[in-house]
Amino acid sequence: VTRDNATAGYGDRWQVRRIKLGDVDYPYHYGYDCLDLIAQEIAALDADRLVMVTDDTVLALHGGALLPRLRALAPVDVLSHARGEAMKSLPQLMEYIERALAAGATRRSVVVAFGGGVPGNLAGLLAGLLFRGVRLVHIPTTTIAAMDSVLSLKQAINSSRGKNHIGTYYAPSAVFTDVRMLQTLPTRELRSGLCEAAKNCLAIRSAALPKLRRQFLAGGDWSAPSALLWLLDESIQAKTAVTARDSREQRAGLVLEYGHTVGHAVELAVNRRRSGGISHGEAVAFGMVVAANLAQRRGWLSEADVAVHEEIVAALGAPLWLPPDLSIDEIIAIVREDNKRGYLPPAPDSAPFVLLAALGQPAGDPELPLVPVRLDEVSSVLASRCHRSPRYADTLASGVTV
Ligand SMILES: NC(=O)c1ccc[n+]([C@@H]2O[C@H](COP(=O)([O-])OP(=O)(O)OC[C@H]3O[C@@H](n4cnc5c(N)ncnc54)[C@H](O)[C@@H]3O)[C@@H](O)[C@H]2O)c1
Repeated sequence: VTRDNATAGYGDRWQVRRIKLGDVDYPYHYGYDCLDLIAQEIAALDADRLVMVTDDTVLALHGGALLPRLRALAPVDVLSHARGEAMKSLPQLMEYIERALAAGATRRSVVVAFGGGVPGNLAGLLAGLLFRGVRLVHIPTTTIAAMDSVLSLKQAINSSRGKNHIGTYYAPSAVFTDVRMLQTLPTRELRSGLCEAAKNCLAIRSAALPKLRRQFLAGGDWSAPSALLWLLDESIQAKTAVTARDSREQRAGLVLEYGHTVGHAVELAVNRRRSGGISHGEAVAFGMVVAANLAQRRGWLSEADVAVHEEIVAALGAPLWLPPDLSIDEIIAIVREDNKRGYLPPAPDSAPFVLLAALGQPAGDPELPLVPVRLDEVSSVLASRCHRSPRYADTLASGVTV
């Protein structure tokens, strides 16, 4: 990753890092209040049409600022859907393919993903499929998209049987984030992506932890532009550090799954009961607390390291305790089916986990940072996370420093 202040005169308001994932290489431009600069960069692509994929919420909030700037460059076709995960479907993608072709898209057209991970994934597949691949740019407007999904080549939609079942890898020509647009996010959406950013600091960039704790533990403002720009930059560096040689996230990049084994199970179990009951980031944050406890039991993480996890997760408003209506058996049944099965030799009654040997350092082989964990160990840690013990409540309430 290289960084430069490519555009003279804008200082910290406009930065560029080059993202290198395997043999793919694209610029990530980011700043505050920089829509003119974004339009200037898109103009350089010399597109005959811009095919924008977005959702109705993003369009209503930010389309008014972006669209006139893009319409000054080329005709813009706006493909917009109702917000939400349900839109990541094959019929929705098919509709967009037909509409883009009917509008006159050609090989010189550019697909513009404008919004969160849902428009981002639909746009990624649309760009990958039209004429076997046209250029794609991302303008992410959620923390999840800006700090996570646009740093991955993975593009997927859901089948009727499960999430992200239909997909491929496809690289953008460029990414542009104006963190000003992130400031309209509801707190929960904002924090969901920040949980992933915190995961990156805990699992990969522990040098960032002192600043993270200083800035945010005392009720700091997570949505301040300086905070968002810093966390975005940390996420770029963390993600690219592990995916530079593993663009498909199937070896060293698996560390990005930290917190996801139990996190994914909790997300699924809660959302079975009440849709939207827990965000992805909140569930991953709880999963990291469980993973930290597992690592502590093995003598890898200290009590202080576990406390760092808990402080950060609590400061992000994510749960430290298993939601009361979930059963441990249900979580274990989902963990048993975890999609990281197959990376390690099969072992009965165990599941592969990313655990930390120390903060910022995954356990096991750096080229395959997974370790088998017995399901009864997971059950035992979950049992200890069922009830708020006075010790943890007291420590968190007193704003402990470790
Ligand atoms: N490709 C990858 O590697 C990758 C990584 C992470 C997530 N994802 C995918 O991304 C999706 C989740 O991402 P997401 O949370 O961004 O989903 P999303 O696109 O549904 O956005 C979440 C919500 O925020 C709203 N929103 C977006 N921008 C806003 C803004 N600036 N102000 C106010 N509201 C705004 C949207 O309308 C939506 O309701 C999932 O489908 C997931 O599978 C993919």
